[in-house]
Amino acid sequence: MSGHGTPIPMTSAKCGPLTGTADVPGDKSISHRALILGAMAVGETRITGLLEGEDVLDTARAMRAFGAEVTDHGSGAWSVHGVGVGGFAEPAAVIDCGNSGTGVRLIMGAMATCPISATFTGDASLNKRPMARVTDPLALFGARSYGRSGGRLPMTIIGAADPVPVRYATPVPSAQVKSAVLLAGLNAPGETVVIEREATRDHSERMLAGFGATVHTEDTREGRVITLIGQPELRPQVIEVPRDPSSAAFPVCAALIVPGSDVLVPNIGLNPTRAGLFTTLREMGADLSYENAREEGGEPVADLRARFSPDLKGIEVDPARAASMIDEYPALSVVAAFADGTTMMRGVAELRVKESDRIEAMATGLRANGVTVDDGPDWWSVQGRGHGGVPGSATCASHLDHRIAMSFLILGMAANAPVAVDDGGPIATSFPIFEPLMERLGAQITRSAS
Ligand code: S3P
Repeated sequence: MSGHGTPIPMTSAKCGPLTGTADVPGDKSISHRALILGAMAVGETRITGLLEGEDVLDTARAMRAFGAEVTDHGSGAWSVHGVGVGGFAEPAAVIDCGNSGTGVRLIMGAMATCPISATFTGDASLNKRPMARVTDPLALFGARSYGRSGGRLPMTIIGAADPVPVRYATPVPSAQVKSAVLLAGLNAPGETVVIEREATRDHSERMLAGFGATVHTEDTREGRVITLIGQPELRPQVIEVPRDPSSAAFPVCAALIVPGSDVLVPNIGLNPTRAGLFTTLREMGADLSYENAREEGGEPVADLRARFSPDLKGIEVDPARAASMIDEYPALSVVAAFADGTTMMRGVAELRVKESDRIEAMATGLRANGVTVDDGPDWWSVQGRGHGGVPGSATCASHLDHRIAMSFLILGMAANAPVAVDDGGPIATSFPIFEPLMERLGAQITRSAS
């Protein structure tokens, strides 16, 4: 829900080896999609391992507001009794998506081809983020939108009563935009086509196919072309949500930089459109292995084992990999601070429009903690100081951004002096058990500024 109340300052201090097993929560992207597609199927979808973070809970509430029956059975087990494609009811009140760009953009897509209207809002972070990237293609289906200047929330969408199918080339690499168009395409007759120059996470395509929609993906010279046949009857599914690689990034990165660490992170989703961080870390010399690789529910899964890596080196991160690790650059920049040499990250303009401007937020906090960072509109670089070389001691602003808060807390685990964040509250959006989980491994996080 909008705003999470009183700030929760947190401090993380240098700790002994991180050891043990880190059971991170379910995947945020897949959890949103399971609830939304469950609400668009006819009958009961059962979900286990759902991420019960604030972002996903906001989407669950939204699906109820659109008429689906969403039930929490405890311990990550949920069921959704869907209303069918095109069956959304008009919500009686404003839909508050809290901090979640994924939630609001996917739901806008899902309702844009229904003959209803809905008004969306969010917290101070979400209400600053660009929505035209979604409302532009939704207008092609016949939906209208009325928001604040610059295409910001709060915003009302009036769904198309007679939607037409759309062919749309996404101007930015965004799985949220792609997914909004595909979800809107579900209730348009004929073929909806999305073309993306760079492949982004494909959970929507995989899950749409699982629910019985006809969806084809083809790699062409134009890019990746995804074709969806509209107006299918979606069949309810049993979905086991894999654990989130973007949450796994934090215990993994912490283990690499804290001397003596050896951490196992089981059951992590390793869809190739998500796993770029782990490839990058190995290129930097990280002692990181995949164990027990297997497939579960249409997604590749493995156990990750990360050990302290004394010989990390700075690298030029392949920009072609940016989409597959877009949420992991903040954590990567912390590992880069403990490497020898400079890590250069290019082709990452999208980082500036996430929950915060992540380049600005990380650069400012890393500099305050004694690390040299350079940046431009779509690139940044971190000059590594080697193991034992990061001074720490500063308080960093988290800018209502969960990943910024967690990144600075792992910085503090290996820096020479404690690192504080002004507000760790946003961590609950994606990784509500971050503190106890990291403490069980051996981290020292306290809930007051140093
Ligand atoms: C997401 C897509 C990405 C990512 C976000 C989750 C999704 O956003 O940053 O955390 O689930 O589709 P963009 O589509 O803006 O790249």
